[in-house]
Amino acid sequence: MSHIEQAATQTPRQVAIQVLTNVLLQQGSLSTQLNRLQGQLATDQQALLKEFCFGVCRQYPKLNSVALSLLTHPFEEKDTDLYAILLLGLYQLSYMKTPDHAAVNESVEACRELNKDWATKLMNAVLRRYQREELEIIDNLMQMPSVEFNHPKWLVKRYKKHWSNDFQQIIDASNAHPPMCIRVNLDRVSRETYQSTLNELGIETTLGRLSNASLYLSKAMSVNQLPGFEDGLCSVQDEAAQLAGEILNPTLNERLLDACAAPGGKTGHLLECMSHSQIKDQKGDQSETQTSSQRLPSLTAIELEAWRLEKIESNLERLGYCAELLCADASEVEEWWDKQTYDKILLDVPCSATGVIRRNPDIKLNRKPADIEELTHIQKNILNSVWATLKPNGHLLYATCSLMPEENEQQIATFLSEHTDAKEVPLNHLNADLDSNWGLDVSHGKQLFPTLNGNDGFYYCLLQKSA
Ligand SMILES: C[S@@+](CC[C@H](N)C(=O)[O-])C[C@H]1O[C@@H](n2cnc3c(N)ncnc32)[C@H](O)[C@@H]1O
Repeated sequence: MSHIEQAATQTPRQVAIQVLTNVLLQQGSLSTQLNRLQGQLATDQQALLKEFCFGVCRQYPKLNSVALSLLTHPFEEKDTDLYAILLLGLYQLSYMKTPDHAAVNESVEACRELNKDWATKLMNAVLRRYQREELEIIDNLMQMPSVEFNHPKWLVKRYKKHWSNDFQQIIDASNAHPPMCIRVNLDRVSRETYQSTLNELGIETTLGRLSNASLYLSKAMSVNQLPGFEDGLCSVQDEAAQLAGEILNPTLNERLLDACAAPGGKTGHLLECMSHSQIKDQKGDQSETQTSSQRLPSLTAIELEAWRLEKIESNLERLGYCAELLCADASEVEEWWDKQTYDKILLDVPCSATGVIRRNPDIKLNRKPADIEELTHIQKNILNSVWATLKPNGHLLYATCSLMPEENEQQIATFLSEHTDAKEVPLNHLNADLDSNWGLDVSHGKQLFPTLNGNDGFYYCLLQKSA
C-alpha cells in the first residue's frame, strides 16, 4: 500500500493508539510521538488526535487506576496497544461527548484492526461495566492519591512534603489546560500597540503580570492567525519563562551564553532584549554613532541534541536574529569553548519539568523518582563546568521548570558551598525595573508555582562570580 493510500485509511483513533502505545512503552515523549505520527492524518483531523492523546495522558493516573481495577490481569507488554485502546475508551466515556455505545464499539473494533480478535469480548465487557458502574467504581478508588489528585502517588507525596501550603494550587493548575501566552517582540513593536492590533482583529487578550512583553490570549489559536508571527513580531512563550530575559537584561555590549538552548524560546528572547537595548540606548543618547547602531548581538547557544538545535535555527530565522549555534555537551567545556569568557550565562538546565505538567502531561506516565536523582546529577555537572566560562563579576542565571527543591534551591546550596567565588544576588540585581513581587522566596532564589489560567511553574536563582 502506498503512503498516500495508507494516510487516507488512518483514523484519529488509530493514530492515537499508535502514539499512546509508544508513549506507554517509553519510546519518546508525547510531543515527539505526535510530531512523528500526526502526518498520517489530514490537518483537520489532527485536533481530535491531540484531544485523544493529551486527554488520556492528562487523566492517566485516574484512568490507569480504574483500568487496573477492572482487569483481572494487566495486559502483557506485547499488548500495550490494547491497553492504549482501553485507556482511550475510558477517556471517551468519562470526558468526551462521544455517545457511550460508539466509544465501546469503536474500541472493540480497534482490537480487530490490530488482529487481536481474542481481546474484543474483554474490551466490550470492561468498558460496558465501566459505563454502568462509573460512579461506584470511582467512589471506591477515591482513597487512592492517583485517583483523588490525578497525579502519580510519589509526586503527590513530594508535593505534600515540600509545598503543603501550595499543594492544591499545584495539583489544580497541573491538571488544567494551560493558557496560551505570547511574548511580544519589544524590539519591533510595543506590547500596547500589538495588543491593539489583536483587538482590532477580534482577538481578546489580557496583559501578563510578570513580564512586560507578555499577553494572554483568551482563546488558544493557531500561531498562523497571529499577525506578523512569521515575521517575528511575537512568539508563543509562557510568562514565567519570559522572566529569564527580564532578569538577565542583556545589552549589545555583552557576550552571552545560552548553555542549554533548544528549542530556543529564551535564546530568541535574549536576542530581542539585546537588540532592543540598542534602541533604548539611542533614545537616551542622541549622539550614538553609526558603528554602534550596526553592532550585532554576541550570543552562543549550545544544545546537546542535533535535531533540537535545528529548532533554535528555525526559531531565530523567523525572528530575524543570528547567534552562534553549537551542538555540544555543555559540560564538556574544552570541546566547545573558545576561552573567551562570557558576561552573562543562561543555564536553563534539563529538569523534571514538574512545573509544566499541564503542557507535557505524559510526565504523569513516564517520570519516575529515580529521574530526579539522575537529572540532579546532570544539572550539577553542567553548572560546575559552565561556571568556568563566566567572567569575573559576570552573572549566571540558573533556571528550571521544576518544582523539586533537589533540582532548585538544594542544587544551588550545594554549588555555593563548593564554590567560594560564587554568591547569590537578588533577581532584580541586573534590572532595576523588574518588579520582585512574584514567586516564593526559598532558601536560594525564587520558586514559581503553576497557576490556573496563569504562569507555569519555574525556578530562578541569579549568581555572580567574584572579581
Ligand atoms: C529546559 S530545555 C531548554 C529550554 C530552552 N532554554 C528554551 O527556553 O527554549 C533543556 C535543553 O537542554 C538540552 N540539554 C540536555 N543536556 C545537555 C547538555 N549536557 N548540554 C547541552 N544541552 C543539553 C536538552 O536537550 C534541552 O533541549
